[in-house]
Amino acid sequence: YVIGVDLGTSSVKTLLVSKDGEIKGEATASYPLIQERPSYSEQNPEEWVNGTVACLKELLQTSGVSAEDIEGVSFSGQMHGLVLLDEQNRVLRNAILWNDTRTTKECREIEQKLGGKLLDITRNAALEGFTLPKILWVQKHEPELFAKAASFVLPKDYLRYRMTGRVEMEISDAAGTLLLNVPEGKWSDEIASAFGLPEGFCPPLVGSTEGTGTLLPEFAALTGLSPATKVFGGGADNACGAVGAGIVRKGDALCSVGTSGVVLTYEEDKSKDFAGKVHFFNHAHPGAFYAMGVTLAAGYSLSWFRDALAPGVGFSELLQNVGEIAPGSEGLLFTPYLVGERTPHADSVIRGSFIGLSGTHRRDHLARAVMEGITFSLQESFDLFRQAGITVDRVISIGGGAKNPVWLQMQADIFGKPVVSLKNEQGPAMGAAMMAAVGSGWFGSLKECADQFIGYGATYEPIPENVEKYARLFKLYQQVYEATRSLNEGLQEFRG
Ligand code: XUL
Repeated sequence: YVIGVDLGTSSVKTLLVSKDGEIKGEATASYPLIQERPSYSEQNPEEWVNGTVACLKELLQTSGVSAEDIEGVSFSGQMHGLVLLDEQNRVLRNAILWNDTRTTKECREIEQKLGGKLLDITRNAALEGFTLPKILWVQKHEPELFAKAASFVLPKDYLRYRMTGRVEMEISDAAGTLLLNVPEGKWSDEIASAFGLPEGFCPPLVGSTEGTGTLLPEFAALTGLSPATKVFGGGADNACGAVGAGIVRKGDALCSVGTSGVVLTYEEDKSKDFAGKVHFFNHAHPGAFYAMGVTLAAGYSLSWFRDALAPGVGFSELLQNVGEIAPGSEGLLFTPYLVGERTPHADSVIRGSFIGLSGTHRRDHLARAVMEGITFSLQESFDLFRQAGITVDRVISIGGGAKNPVWLQMQADIFGKPVVSLKNEQGPAMGAAMMAAVGSGWFGSLKECADQFIGYGATYEPIPENVEKYARLFKLYQQVYEATRSLNEGLQEFRG
């Protein structure tokens, strides 16, 4: 057996998986966010450790699997969170998380100081969520504390440190720090020294399926696991989500609709130029990368719509008639910019809109328009991939969008690609377990493991007539952003 630990933002999920990819046990534990100010989002790393210990104990007790039969553990982690360590590897302050947005000034500083080198080296734009801006914030606002900082790690790397005693950072996660030379897969000394970071501040890098030792006897004793259990690097949650959905080959892409939406594609060519409009990170598969676009309010747009217009109604009831409405919702367009937008606009001022409302529109038309608007927003990312020369052959759909056949067909028609769902969706914890399976030597690569572990449901083929209609609607959808940008600027002062 192997264990995948998915260290998320609201909870940790552990999955016990057998050699044939069967789930033999699952346990979760949640922990709070600390939000002292509106833009702040922090967590106490001790909560991650305590939650994980509780889950691992429960997993052993409830599955009846003996500790000696568990060969390896690996991880998926919420990305970008800053855990600052002193010389004795003690945590210096609460972790500042990916969804903390206090760092706009620091992002501008990074852009000014590095200019074009930022994109050349990191392949990513400076965003508030990423780690370097958080490091600079502490450097500026908590200088006494920062003077004690000897190194930093990311959330799941901290958890792994507590399990093994080794301070290391796994590479797919390091890609989201803005301190990594992403194409080369090495720390950028140039960036670290430009911001005065101390020698050794960036810890040694490890690969996703690489061994990082065995469990510390004291950690093993806390959980009931054997100290002989091997521990492997793991990956960023988006990389693990991709691996867990089988995105390990050129031509495969992922569409995930959670609160936010993610579109991601496997890539081996590191020279592709996205001009920083999508993220470009190292994948868990050695030498591979993934490009990724984010729709901030994907599932959130639909839950907003339900809560605002049909409170208390379940999603299946809300969407039960949308299949009877033709593509285009009888002339109604929705843009899902309820909290601004990440890809492609990176704009916190823009807000959503319904365009083309008429007296004949009923709730079902609005619901369909919301689904279409979310999917058009995800198509914007696919469109950027296409412009950069990436070919997508099929889309694997997970999350809310995969639960509804009408939405799966809509995705196939808007993306213009075959869309498939998974037989048994387990999310990033499965990707993490697969990393432990490969690390333990069960398979030669993540590709081999995916062939064995991942089963697909029905394929939704694009319907040519709908594809043509949606292509025309997408052009109109894309114009709504520019057309409403200055209106939203003006409306800003009236917002609550
Ligand atoms: C990716 C990002 C989020 C976090 C969530 O850039 O910020 O997807 O990884 O954990």
